[in-house]
Amino acid sequence: MDVNIETLIDQETLQKRIREMAEELDREYEGKELRVIGILKGSVYFMCELTRYMKTPVTLDFLSVSSYGNGMESTGVIHFNKDLDEPIEGRDVILVEDIMDTGRTLSFLINVLKERKPASLKVITLLDKPSRRLVKIEPAITGFTIPDRFVVGYGLDYAQNYRNLPYIGVIE
Ligand code: IMP
Ligand code: MG
Repeated sequence: MDVNIETLIDQETLQKRIREMAEELDREYEGKELRVIGILKGSVYFMCELTRYMKTPVTLDFLSVSSYGNGMESTGVIHFNKDLDEPIEGRDVILVEDIMDTGRTLSFLINVLKERKPASLKVITLLDKPSRRLVKIEPAITGFTIPDRFVVGYGLDYAQNYRNLPYIGVIE
């Protein structure tokens, strides 16, 4: 693909912030075990790095939904592609997302997961674009608040490309 990508958040800055987020979670869940749920595929790089920095015992699970087509615009329709492997009843759970945009995906998932009666449920997102919010929802922990630009890298894609860039970039 012939596009220009400008760095928005470099690798060092990302790693420093992710380490801080891990420490924050360690303090918050001290003495507990945590079920960490990644939303495929965008959250995987962030989730791996976050949990590697954490000292709290964790178990991992994944789910997959699609809310976007292959472009930059949301369809507004959310499909469940893959459900969790394990029940979450009575568990302390964090839901890990790459980016919160309109908020539709996370509010849908929070409603679905709350019905399964976790002991607690928190949302942690690497990036947040609050200016685009259509649903009233706030992540418990946010890595970086960013302007209304379409970003790729560190798990985020444009038409499934660029997920493995080691930084967050903006498509020109
Ligand atoms: P929401 O339901 O509108 O909050 O959309 C969240 C999902 O949209 C994220 O999990 C991403 O998959 C996708 N998304 C939103 N903004 C971007 C972006 O700037 N780059 C890549 N994907 C994005
Ligand atoms: Mg996503």
